[in-house]
Amino acid sequence: MAAPTSGLGLPGYLLLLLLLTSPTWVTSVSRRHPKDQANSPSSDVACGQPVLQGKLLGGELTRDRKWPWQVSVHYSGFHVCGGSILNAYWVLTAAHCFARGKKLQTFDMYVGITNLEVANRHTQWLEINQVIIHPTFEMFHPVGGDVALVQLKSPIVFSDFVLPICLPPSNLNLHNMSCWTTGWGMISPQGETGKELLEAQLPLIPKFQCQLLYGLTSYLLPEMLCAADIKNMKNVCEGDSGGPLVCKLNETWLQIGIVSWGRGCAQPLYPGVFANVSYFLSWIRYYMETVPNPPQILPSLSSSLRNNLSTLLTIMGSLLVL
Ligand SMILES: *[C@@H]1O[C@H](CO)[C@@H](O)[C@H](O)[C@H]1NC(C)=O
Ligand SMILES: *[C@@H]1O[C@H](CO)[C@@H](O)[C@H](O)[C@H]1NC(C)=O
Ligand SMILES: *[C@@H]1O[C@H](CO)[C@@H](O)[C@H](O)[C@H]1NC(C)=O
Ligand SMILES: *[C@@H]1O[C@H](CO)[C@@H](O)[C@H](O)[C@H]1NC(C)=O
Repeated sequence: MAAPTSGLGLPGYLLLLLLLTSPTWVTSVSRRHPKDQANSPSSDVACGQPVLQGKLLGGELTRDRKWPWQVSVHYSGFHVCGGSILNAYWVLTAAHCFARGKKLQTFDMYVGITNLEVANRHTQWLEINQVIIHPTFEMFHPVGGDVALVQLKSPIVFSDFVLPICLPPSNLNLHNMSCWTTGWGMISPQGETGKELLEAQLPLIPKFQCQLLYGLTSYLLPEMLCAADIKNMKNVCEGDSGGPLVCKLNETWLQIGIVSWGRGCAQPLYPGVFANVSYFLSWIRYYMETVPNPPQILPSLSSSLRNNLSTLLTIMGSLLVL
């Protein structure tokens, strides 16, 4: 099955196929909040630093702690895209995940989840307050500017399983970096659309080489970057869209790309194309810094509601885990 490509040589967006592939959904989810919300502002948590269990020397990160910034964007109850947590109120994803004519209220997000069919006690469900689409994407749809910032209605509560990713510096030298992408799409062409979060280490591919591989069929803009593991046939796929490409620098993970498009995942000769996060850095920072947080429901009411809900759902969550 090849990804759709229009006759005009426009990129075949990964999302288009996704809606036709086997759906996955979350059946139940806990909405956990700590007793005191004020104790967990986003500025208190370090970005790009997964927490080692027990901080054992040489310890291994378990699957559910390895990529704590991963978001699953749902539309109408189905996983449609990935995303990443920038802070308590903001999620970064791809603009094409929010196709025109789709109702915003029908989208929601999950964090703290690795198996899309099993919510656990670390899973949080989040509603969207607003989506900010890059103006280039709106104007020249569907080429370029494939970046969207999603503001949540209520803040994400951070834990060892839910943490933000760092934005890269604008002058980042990507030389010799180890970069990974994560998602629920088919990262390996042999695989099925996954319920489990998958990861793939993808070498960056020089722009000229990437353009050569795509030839005249697709034009790579300066704001795009390419990555694929051609030797091991690993590439991004449907369902990975909007997800992060992250690289480790000095023990800190930075997000350098957003999964944008490709030409069918069964053909790793066509690298995955990512929106270059550094390129959009000032746009991202501008909105995160200037848009006020959405108003919250009355603290007294919300905290008592949340505590009750939290107790109930924590119990349900532990039953599910057992
Ligand atoms: C990149 O890695 C290679 C091999 O590991 C090493 O020889 C080279 O010095 C590294 N370059 C930089 C800029 O770190
Ligand atoms: C990484 O850490 C080393 C040593 O702490 C430091 O010299 C270097 O500037 C750091 N690199 C970046 C890009 O922050
Ligand atoms: C990404 O964008 C930054 C800022 O415009 C630029 O310096 C960098 O070279 C770009 N990266 C790639 C791989 O094109
Ligand atoms: C929720 O908890 C509060 C105390 O925190 C209690 O007064 C209230 O009755 C509870 N509501 C429900 C629906 O259990």
